[in-house]
Amino acid sequence: MNSSLSQKSFRHSLFMLFFLFGTIACNDDRAGADEDNQNVFAVLSALPANVIAPATNIQSDEKRDLGRLLFFDPILSGTKNVSCATCHHPNLAFADGIRLSIGVNGMGLGAERRNGVRINRNAPTIINTAFNGIGQNANYNPDQAPMFWDSRAQSLEEQALLPMLNREEMRGPNIPEDQIMDSLLMRLNNIAEYQDLFNQAFGTSEINQSRLLAALSAYERSIIANNSPFDQFMRGDESALSEQEQEGMRDFVEVGCADCHGGPMLSDFELHVLGVPDVNGLTDRGAGNFDFRTPSLRNIALTGPYMHNGEMNSLREVLEFYNDISGNRANNAINDNLNRNDLADEARRLDLNGGDIDEIIAFLGSLTDQDFDRSIPSAVPSGLQVGGDIN
Ligand code: HEC
Ligand code: HEC
Repeated sequence: MNSSLSQKSFRHSLFMLFFLFGTIACNDDRAGADEDNQNVFAVLSALPANVIAPATNIQSDEKRDLGRLLFFDPILSGTKNVSCATCHHPNLAFADGIRLSIGVNGMGLGAERRNGVRINRNAPTIINTAFNGIGQNANYNPDQAPMFWDSRAQSLEEQALLPMLNREEMRGPNIPEDQIMDSLLMRLNNIAEYQDLFNQAFGTSEINQSRLLAALSAYERSIIANNSPFDQFMRGDESALSEQEQEGMRDFVEVGCADCHGGPMLSDFELHVLGVPDVNGLTDRGAGNFDFRTPSLRNIALTGPYMHNGEMNSLREVLEFYNDISGNRANNAINDNLNRNDLADEARRLDLNGGDIDEIIAFLGSLTDQDFDRSIPSAVPSGLQVGGDIN
């Protein structure tokens, strides 16, 4: 009896042991997956729900709505045929979908755009530029937010002035740079509807440069896409990313992409030399500038062609470029004016052999959030063509 009891309790213990082991093994699997993702959680994160506006430009619906009209109104170009939306159009994810932008006196939108003067840069999207400068700790200062491929402007307010002054983008050949702003403000002041809207947004009907830039920026701060599958996953919904996308996300971190493309915008907002080829000798030879800011990768699947000069048409081409300049490869695909030693260390030590390009591309696709404000005004106060000469 005794022995049978002890036998029973022995069997019971064995069972308990198996049961325990089983549970540990199970937990181990989950812990293992979480552990795999620990590297990811350390360097990547979701975007916050809300944007920080500068103390000098408090966000309001009136300013945003005025900013939208200004953004689509070609009255802001010397030639009255280009608006901000000509090159940052909601139907093209607020970029223009072409290699190099075309400004004054161009016609058509996106791939249809023709004639006019070509700019020597690819147009980045303005979606989420309200978050430019944000780090993994979610801190940033909107007055110091880096703008442009080479970070030569800080803040949306400072940036918004420059396309209007630029001869190729909006100013045109006929009005000198030191007169264009006066001339644009005079035009706006002559339109009663704008006086009314500035009054609603700022409390008086005065139309000056800083109010103009404030309204444009308030609109841009409302163009946010912060709920991609990636964001949902980072906020705890494990089903938001497929196995392949998760593998790609871990590869992205492990091979070293996140050394530069880290934080909630997938950018360190630092300048680096990658030596992107300049096939046409158009975009950096004259400028002698090879330092470009790590671009955000949010909505990247929507905003090709890629790189400061739009030299690459697909994400696969971009990945093949990184494969060529990284650790184990020959001196391929590097800008003629540079040596391999000139390239950023983080780029040279990428280890794409340890990752899978298809998976990384799948992960990049999970950074897409199509749910941003695409509304286009049906008319603008100047009575000119909405968006400029884009038909
Ligand atoms: C002719 C095409 C064109 C027009 C018009 C245009 N842009 Fe741009 N935009 C560009 C290009 C090209 C760049 C990149 C230039 C560079 O980095 O040197 C850019 C860059 C930007 C950026 C920086 C984004 C970032 O992350 O660095 C913002 C913001 C922006 N534009 C807003 C505007 C606003 C506001 C207007 C109207 C006042 C405007 N753009 C008009 C083509 C254009
Ligand atoms: C040394 C820092 C660095 C590393 C490492 C790095 N990138 Fe980049 N990335 C950049 C910079 C800088 C640019 C812009 C270069 C230019 O335009 O000349 C860029 C551009 C891109 C673009 C095009 C973005 C656009 O809007 O045109 C993609 C996509 C991209 N990187 C993905 C990756 C992936 C995937 C990896 C890992 C295989 C990676 N990057 C590794 C700094 C880096």
